[in-house]
Amino acid sequence: MDNRGTFGSRFTATMAMAGSAIGLGNIWRFPYIAGKYGGGAFIIVYLLSAVFICVPIFLSESIIGKSTRLGTFGAMRTLAPGSRWKWLGLITVITPLIILSYYSVVGGWSVEYLFKAVAQAFGTGAAGAAAASVAGAAGAAERAEFASFISSTWKPIIAHSIFLLANALVVLGGVKKGIEKFTKITTPVLFVLIVVIMFYAISLPGAQAGINYLVDADFSKLTAEGVLSAMGQAFFSLSLGVGTILTYASYMRKEDSILATGCFTAGFDLIFAMIAGFAIMPAVFAAGIEPGAGPGLIFETLPYIFTVMGEQSPVLSGCVSILFFLTILFAALTSSISMLEVGVSYLVDEKNWSRGKAILIVCTGCWLLGILCSLSFGPLSGVNIMGNSIFDFCDKLASNFLMVLGSLLFVLFAGWKMKKSILADEIAPDGSSSVKITLFKILYFLIRYVAPLAIIVIFITNLLM
Ligand code: PFF
Repeated sequence: MDNRGTFGSRFTATMAMAGSAIGLGNIWRFPYIAGKYGGGAFIIVYLLSAVFICVPIFLSESIIGKSTRLGTFGAMRTLAPGSRWKWLGLITVITPLIILSYYSVVGGWSVEYLFKAVAQAFGTGAAGAAAASVAGAAGAAERAEFASFISSTWKPIIAHSIFLLANALVVLGGVKKGIEKFTKITTPVLFVLIVVIMFYAISLPGAQAGINYLVDADFSKLTAEGVLSAMGQAFFSLSLGVGTILTYASYMRKEDSILATGCFTAGFDLIFAMIAGFAIMPAVFAAGIEPGAGPGLIFETLPYIFTVMGEQSPVLSGCVSILFFLTILFAALTSSISMLEVGVSYLVDEKNWSRGKAILIVCTGCWLLGILCSLSFGPLSGVNIMGNSIFDFCDKLASNFLMVLGSLLFVLFAGWKMKKSILADEIAPDGSSSVKITLFKILYFLIRYVAPLAIIVIFITNLLM
């Protein structure tokens, strides 16, 4: 199995996992929902769910991968021979590929907007934007520009293809020369970029309102819906239940600690989300725009701010906008390569395919589904699946349903099917201190009871909503 590849150190394994976790979700969802559901109050719930639910899922998933040095399907087949678990494991091979298909469409949008930033082509309707802002509809020109871009047929498909090709090239390099080399540079660079943007944003006049939006703890806004959103966001953000963490853990060296890697990954992910919030919300408030979530925040609101900035200082606006879209692109890429790797490792491990062939087949499938997702903003906007566009359907199916199901599967497998000694070996091996043994007991309880129950509640609520 050694031809699968191995991460060279705990640091690089952590950078790869943190790169998978830090993605578009940190930038466009976290800042908005944190503010909407009570700022600091939301962050407390988010932290609690990260510690009590997500870390146990993370540990379950990664120990399954690390102990077998196989992807989801092979790991479950090895740990529970002759059982049907492996077929359930196959679900988590499919989920990341569905996510990759639509994530790559958004990745393509960031490619297009990076080009725009380089060409300083924001606010092709600068005059229109100014007029619109006078009329009280700040950013109207950028909204129109974005809507016309995503609803067109070819441009977004070409951008999606470029983005997917970049993924294929990184993953083709293998674990060491591709994924590790790429993420050990881009993940730290991501942090530097977002910190630079944050300092710029908080220096803007009127930025304080954005900071308050994010940190003021307002418990009256923390509804039941807010609590569930916090849990759901923690899941998505940590890339749980999709086999990416499992697959990356299967490339870890035996001596590298899962517990430390898990805590660092969860910590970096949260810190990045907070910094992204401080980078984005102050700018949004400084420009006097209502905060929102989703693509609009990145592709409409921020370009409007760059247009306004550009009227005062074109060079500064140019630099900040390039940095910003570069950040988005790196964040998206380090996440999407982890999704691609799940499918590729399955075909390499189980079918003995070469990496090149596996990448070609997986990318072609994701490319085709991605094209449908892209067209669902334009020519295929009339196609409706259970009340959703193709893009929204894939997103909801994967993030509200399959990811939650996958996470449930992992904790149940680790807590009830796998030998307890395998988990103990990773967290508190023989001869560990009494503190470590107690920690293991607590974590084992969380894996067996608390995490599954919480996941079932989230799952049922998602079904009912
Ligand atoms: N964690 C990523 C984000 O916050 O954008 C999303 C993600 C990455 C989901 C990898 C699933 C996955 F396999």
